[in-house]
Amino acid sequence: MRICVVGAGYVGLTTATTLADLGHDVRCVDIDQGKIDNLCQGKIPIYEPGLQELMNKNTQRNKLHFSSHVEESIRDYPIILIAVGTPSKEDGSSNLSFVSQVVEIIGSTLNEYKIIITKSTVPPGTNEWIHQTLIEMGIEEELFDIVSNPEFLREGTALWDIYHPNKVVFGTKSDRPIKVLKKLYKRGKAPYIFSSLTGAELIKYASNAFLATKISFANEMAHICDAYEVNYSDIAKGLGADPRIGRHFLNAGLGFGGSCLPKDLSALKDSALRKEVETKLLDAVMEINANQIEIYLKKLMTELPDLTDKQITVWGVTFKPGTDDLRSSPALRLIKQLVQRGSQVHTYDPMVQLELAEVSSFSDQYESIRDSDALIIATEWEQFHECNWTEVKSRMRGSIILDARNCIDGKIVKSEGFIYLGVGRQ
Ligand SMILES: NC(=O)c1ccc[n+]([C@@H]2O[C@H](COP(=O)([O-])OP(=O)(O)OC[C@H]3O[C@@H](n4cnc5c(N)ncnc54)[C@H](O)[C@@H]3O)[C@@H](O)[C@H]2O)c1
Repeated sequence: MRICVVGAGYVGLTTATTLADLGHDVRCVDIDQGKIDNLCQGKIPIYEPGLQELMNKNTQRNKLHFSSHVEESIRDYPIILIAVGTPSKEDGSSNLSFVSQVVEIIGSTLNEYKIIITKSTVPPGTNEWIHQTLIEMGIEEELFDIVSNPEFLREGTALWDIYHPNKVVFGTKSDRPIKVLKKLYKRGKAPYIFSSLTGAELIKYASNAFLATKISFANEMAHICDAYEVNYSDIAKGLGADPRIGRHFLNAGLGFGGSCLPKDLSALKDSALRKEVETKLLDAVMEINANQIEIYLKKLMTELPDLTDKQITVWGVTFKPGTDDLRSSPALRLIKQLVQRGSQVHTYDPMVQLELAEVSSFSDQYESIRDSDALIIATEWEQFHECNWTEVKSRMRGSIILDARNCIDGKIVKSEGFIYLGVGRQ
């Protein structure tokens, strides 16, 4: 099939590449000329394991092309897959201006039947709005089908997730595009979930809201464990053994971040309020998450009461391991708080050299801790689990480790003479 993927970000690029790998003829377009220039030279603008190799393979076999000619490409391809960003506005609602730009182009160029697939995460009612907008632009209903097809990939494991989905969700207004849609993806044993346009949109929001709820629940439980001097990891194990609950997303730590959970929660809350529905649970989930940074700072200050002029090293700045994405990263919020309190902050991350005023970023993990008073682990990159703690101890001035992801072995670092601070960890 001939597919035009609009937007060459984390979702668009991985989707375009995997669709090409499945044998479709794919053109991926973006308004960012720099991004397209790089892609045309074979350079991917993001870090996603395995993506570079898969992209090279499919550009070489002529299945995958890149272009900044958005209008021409949308006009020429029969299947349009929208994967542009839908960031949060100041008030928490979803900024749909990128989606609107694409819809405008579709409406002004459409002259033969097209299937328009929305993969971007959009608030309930958006795909109905796209349908209505095209009708109002004078396009006959027979000439298009809108499909709401939310994406559930996780950055860092995006290729695996696309090839091994646990479901494929399609929201449609009619059965007409279904035959084509069923040939689009590799789904293994994953079920198709068919719904209305708005139903499919809400499946995505409900999923992210539920995952965020699990994280905030875990964090609250970890604080209760702290108060009772109990290891939260035992509780997570016990909870996770119940298949009705499951072990995923039960780790305690700095809280959730990234380009999806915080923005999707805010957009869902906004959508609910527009229909005068209260969101007490979502509000609590967001409030618990927002408080996590303060709780960890307080923990640090039990050992280092005055943070002014203290040198603090933060390991991990991305919102989670396996990605270079800094969007809404809790580590960044923590770093900004430390700077505000007068600390000199050093950072190290395996993927990102942070460019922030008042912060010194290092490319060497061990150099970053030289003469530091405390080390904070803010993102659980695998290499932090297994580092040489004797070496770390000999380079630091102080001996405090704040493990804000409960990811290192407290016993080992304590045996090296460190003061180890986790949450819900005795
Ligand atoms: N990143 C994730 O893990 C993830 C997972 C599931 C769903 N989503 C959703 O997928 C969507 C895209 O997310 P992302 O992380 O890939 O965003 P991104 O910011 O990485 O990429 C979006 C791209 O769209 C391009 N763009 C904007 N307007 C355009 C236009 N008019 N024409 C062509 N290109 C245009 C931008 O230049 C950018 O390259 C969002 O709605 C997001 O919520 C993201």
